[in-house]
Amino acid sequence: MRIDVITIFPEYLEPLDVSLVGKAREKGILDVRLHQLRDWTHDVHHTVDDTPYGGGPGMVMKPEPWASALDTVAPPGATVPGTDGAPAEGPCLIVPTPSGRPFTQAVAVELAARPWLVFAPARYEGIDRRVIDDAATRMPVHELSIGDYVLAGGEVAVLVMVEAIARLLPGVLGNVESARDDSFAAGRMEKLLEGPVYTKPARWRDREVPEVLLSGHHGKIARWRRDEALRRTAAHRPDLVAAFRPEELDRRDREV
Ligand code: ADE
Repeated sequence: MRIDVITIFPEYLEPLDVSLVGKAREKGILDVRLHQLRDWTHDVHHTVDDTPYGGGPGMVMKPEPWASALDTVAPPGATVPGTDGAPAEGPCLIVPTPSGRPFTQAVAVELAARPWLVFAPARYEGIDRRVIDDAATRMPVHELSIGDYVLAGGEVAVLVMVEAIARLLPGVLGNVESARDDSFAAGRMEKLLEGPVYTKPARWRDREVPEVLLSGHHGKIARWRRDEALRRTAAHRPDLVAAFRPEELDRRDREV
């Protein structure tokens, strides 16, 4: 997968050299390219912002540098080979913003299937709207929020999204099953938070690992894990439990 990030703070993205994403880059699974937005300015101060039309506080990112950057990084008509021999595809533009659609595991799965993502993290009050409307005439655009809070800029949101997407790419996680039982993953644990986990020693500071986990009885362990996930979800995310359709629960779930 190719990932381009256009930003005035490329150094904010340095964590992409480290750990899981860093290793995916070393393995050639991820091709991450960082671009300095100011390289597409033409004045001595490398200005990327200006005052908002209509007044109000803060500054707005100017359209010209963004348009030149996008036209260079993802020229009209440009494609990369599709994943697993699929036909070539153009880029998909992702604009992190607190006013976007929520970035969820389902969105991460959808984006992990695309071969080329271009991220446009904004600073200040955001990017001139016309840049996004113009880009949308030639590529899919996703305006996405990572949560109901306001960050100083979109770079941290890019880190969050890239990590969530990268770990879904084939060959990135050591154990292919690691992503399967994640909180929010599709399947049996869909829409449930993961319950507690334990490792050796079986007894630590007088605390025992739940006996069922030592039993070797796969059916009982699966049932226990689901019960714990249901309990945790009810405690931490009652909104998720309230949204359950009855067919998503089995008879035993109702007893928890
Ligand atoms: N930029 C600032 N706050 C943000 C948020 N919550 N999600 C995505 N991008 C942002």
